Amino acid sequence: MPSLTVDHVTKRYRTGTEALLDVSFTVEPGTVLAVVGHNGAGKSTLLNIVSGLIRPTSGTVTADVGRGRVMWAPQRTMVDWSLTVRQNIELVARLTGTPVAAVDRVLELLDLDKVRSRQAEYISGGQLQRVQIARALVADAAVYVLDEPTAGLDPAAGELVMEHLRGRAAAGSTVLVSSHDLDAVERTASGLVLLDEGRLRAHLPVAEFVRRAGATMKVSVVFAEPMPDTMPDRLARTLPAEWTLTTAPDRAGLAVQVPLATGLRPVLAWLPPELRVQDLSAEKQSLRDVYLARYADRTPAPETETVTVQQ
Ligand SMILES: Nc1ncnc2c1ncn2[C@@H]1O[C@H](COP(=O)(O)OP(=O)(O)OP(=O)(O)O)[C@@H](O)[C@H]1O
Ligand SMILES: [Mg+2]
Repeated sequence: MPSLTVDHVTKRYRTGTEALLDVSFTVEPGTVLAVVGHNGAGKSTLLNIVSGLIRPTSGTVTADVGRGRVMWAPQRTMVDWSLTVRQNIELVARLTGTPVAAVDRVLELLDLDKVRSRQAEYISGGQLQRVQIARALVADAAVYVLDEPTAGLDPAAGELVMEHLRGRAAAGSTVLVSSHDLDAVERTASGLVLLDEGRLRAHLPVAEFVRRAGATMKVSVVFAEPMPDTMPDRLARTLPAEWTLTTAPDRAGLAVQVPLATGLRPVLAWLPPELRVQDLSAEKQSLRDVYLARYADRTPAPETETVTVQQ
């Protein structure tokens, strides 16, 4: 049973901006769902609606979490500047009826121990971000919503936070996390929602998204001795459609680009057995690669202008 249903959600801000247009999807418990898309795509709007911070113009969000809670960390800093780091987290623990021991655990998890007594105003940007995340993670929740939690964190801290979120999902929570760090998304998330100008472009398992986006794999082979000079022609003739072949000018090796879904086995089967392989490597396109190739360019193609030169 889905723990979270976003049903035909549209958000029009008072300024007239249509930030979300008829977005629908469901999320199962135990999932880390990454919300991705360009700046201004509507990610924060969506996450703020799911958190209950703002109301949709139309449509509904149903968090079917029983008596469980929804905890959230917004993109914009929301802390009490006059309180210490520890007090900021303790405040949320008290409001949610969470045992104080959880405050110490989360301080340790996010390496905030050394600044625990410092006022929020006097800590670094990354530490502030950690406080925000700590406030979301201190309580047990059925749904966690984190808007770009790793922005501004050092790489080790970012990795740790994403791993921790995966752990919470494995324990049965639902995690919604927006991020521009597509490598981290690929490592951590099970599903992906792609927003584009407020519209839902995709809701798929991450690996499926990468495959459907036309990801390829480049297999590079080095032979023990150069190929016979007739071999490149023979290889080109037997090359399956959709594969691209490049042979080294000295015939010492080749590279073949295949759809990611093809896998390595057909490539090995295609190589004539008389070619002795000395070294082989395969480079798969990542989520980041396919996103940059297919979805990153927000600039519309320029109109073709015809200029007639008067003689
Ligand atoms: N409070 C607001 N009032 C009016 N328009 C807003 C408001 N917040 C966001 N917008 C607009 O709504 C659209 C979606 O913004 P949103 O913050 O949801 O994008 P985002 O995907 O989170 O972007 P980013 O990657 O920069 O965080 C943008 O066009 C933005 O300018
Ligand atoms: Mg945002």
